[in-house]
Amino acid sequence: MRIPRKLEHVHHALQLGQSGEQGFADIRIVPNCLPEASINRICLQTVIGELILSSPIIINAMTGGAQETEAINRELAVAARETGLAMAVGSQMAAIRHADAASSYTVVRKINPDGIVFGNLGSEATLEQAERAVEMIKADALQIHLNVMQELIMPEGDRQFTGMLERIALIAARVGVPVIVKEVGFGIAQEGAAALLQAGVNVIDTGGSGGTNFAAIENARRTAKLDWLNDWGCTTAVALLEVLKAAHAQQSSGGGDRSVSVIASGGIRSSLEIGKALIVGASAVGMAGALLRVLQYEGTAALIERIDTFHQEIKLIMTALGASSIAGLRQVPVVILGETAQWCGLRGVD
Ligand code: FNR
Repeated sequence: MRIPRKLEHVHHALQLGQSGEQGFADIRIVPNCLPEASINRICLQTVIGELILSSPIIINAMTGGAQETEAINRELAVAARETGLAMAVGSQMAAIRHADAASSYTVVRKINPDGIVFGNLGSEATLEQAERAVEMIKADALQIHLNVMQELIMPEGDRQFTGMLERIALIAARVGVPVIVKEVGFGIAQEGAAALLQAGVNVIDTGGSGGTNFAAIENARRTAKLDWLNDWGCTTAVALLEVLKAAHAQQSSGGGDRSVSVIASGGIRSSLEIGKALIVGASAVGMAGALLRVLQYEGTAALIERIDTFHQEIKLIMTALGASSIAGLRQVPVVILGETAQWCGLRGVD
């Protein structure tokens, strides 16, 4: 069952696309008419946990597990190598269960031996499986994805979700590389983020709604539809503000010497959206569906060109705002409007 499903996900993700309603339209940047900056002096380097990344864009987890997905991972790895992006592979559980699927993941390390590569498993993974996933691709970090609603809509999905936090805490303490906990498009709220931080996780990827929609994808694979779940979750803008609130609370309650990083993901498609996420407080952004689309419809060279364009455009935004570093962007004021502001008001999120 597992191997054809990976291909169906790619197919449906491309066919359904991204709604783009990730909430960033509600975030408005306050302009700076005297920015005191020069585009040649802008640095895009950022820090995620203990990792230094040369770009704030991360190619987020997508695929692996079948021959056709190996080609996608190979080309994503070429793009990551040529542009200096960190890249996550898709869930490695397929290779942990069937050793012959490993090449669709290890190809990423083969193509990009010196790059930053993230492994990926679900929260059902044991410490031993997490160690194998890291070892398989010599991962620099391990993503653990949370996708309860996707599993519930998937006819063959999991139905039992106990012990997730305990397993994550054990893996974070023992796996030997930074652990990034991510949602896949339903969003992480402050309560969940606080529990993850408490459990020893230092990097959280918001995975909010407004991009690739795994409720819609699983519904497209079902005969008895659960379409009423297609709007489940909170937007990426809301999830980002929620997770940042938990991170700030954690740091001000004595965890100040611990470095906590937040990655924004879910429906990010443009430089302006990347810029807004970084201004609000993300240390990096994850992009999946938008990059997959360029790769599959326009090819690897076009994907490299698109990423280079993103880098030039982010530098343009930073120059206009007088921020020469990603950390400097966080000083830029924003105004939050609409539903995002309403949500934040009701939830006590600043
Ligand atoms: C994904 N995503 C994903 N995430 C994960 O943690 N493990 C996985 O195996 C997969 N598989 C996968 C397949 C395909 C085809 C896509 C497009 C995505 C989820 C992905 O990392 C991301 O969280 C969501 O897609 C939301 O971001 P975008 O696509 O809106 O940028």
